[in-house]
Amino acid sequence: MPATDALPRAVRYQDGTLYVLDQRRLPAAVIIEACKGAADVEHAIRELQVRGAPAIGIAAAWGLVVEAEHTEVADMAGLLAHISGWAARLRSARPTAVNLAWAVDRMMARLNTCGSERGELLAALREEAQSIEDEDRAICQAIGRHGLELLTPDCGVLTHCNAGSLAVSERGTALAPLYAAAEQGLPVRIFADETRPVLQGARLTAWELGQAGLDVTLICDNMAASLMAAGNIDLVLVGTDRVTANGDVVNKIGTLGVAILAHHYGIPFYVACPSSTFDAATATGAEVEIEERDGREVTHIADIPIAPEGVKVRNPAFDVTPAALVTGIITERGIARAPLASNLRRLLAA
Ligand code: MRU
Repeated sequence: MPATDALPRAVRYQDGTLYVLDQRRLPAAVIIEACKGAADVEHAIRELQVRGAPAIGIAAAWGLVVEAEHTEVADMAGLLAHISGWAARLRSARPTAVNLAWAVDRMMARLNTCGSERGELLAALREEAQSIEDEDRAICQAIGRHGLELLTPDCGVLTHCNAGSLAVSERGTALAPLYAAAEQGLPVRIFADETRPVLQGARLTAWELGQAGLDVTLICDNMAASLMAAGNIDLVLVGTDRVTANGDVVNKIGTLGVAILAHHYGIPFYVACPSSTFDAATATGAEVEIEERDGREVTHIADIPIAPEGVKVRNPAFDVTPAALVTGIITERGIARAPLASNLRRLLAA
């Protein structure tokens, strides 16, 4: 049985409702929220009920479907205008992951070429959202197969944030090779950074790998250096929200520090993502908008204050790892290595 079969899906559409696993509540409780319109989905994305670059794209695509299904307007022009308005809102619910805009744009492109009857429009939207989700599932499988070649028996793999099943349709990007290894009986020691401030590593990665029966050890973010120094880590595997034209990698805050450490200790640093995460229109990571989230995520843990009231806070949710620190990028089409920019371009054009 595939290792991820026991895991709940991040999002699941059925009969006019998008069911979203509330990831804020994990690991304490498995709560599924029912979204019946784009406003519910926008809220779920903004509040990190659903998170992870591919998953928010898939959620937004289905968000447009449920919005169209539940909207009664006098004429088709009105419905189209209504859906376009929601597309713009969902597209900007979070600014950094390019997959969100990519999925919404794909839905709108489909809408603009379908017939003019309400039934045709709904069918086209459902079909496109289903394709985005199904393709993501196949992509994650392929990333798993390609990434498997990097793993050796008993190797130690460090991951940051959550780029697993909970962040995509199924299996994950960075975690996909680890699930593939488990299915082949290849033992791997996985280390998960807790990933402050929102603790995706502790709450989500450690949980999903544990549920799937994989060998995972949780560490605080500031322990990675000493584990690397002690020779416990052979490989770093992370996901990403956007790869720019020059190969810079935008990912969860703290990834840059891990990459610098890996470089210092001569440990390969690999990034896994679908080709839809590649943003050829943006030259470098410096041009990417980095989401700045509420300072309360830093001053509180699970609603308990851990800092003096009123303290000044910064809370950038992502950072940029320069291409020079990236050993390779695992995509559904294979692995691109240095020189990253040209090799990625060649791989994705193939
Ligand atoms: O803020 P989040 O939890 O949405 O951030 C998620 C990440 O940074 C992931 O590493 C990235 O989206 C890749 S998910 C396959």
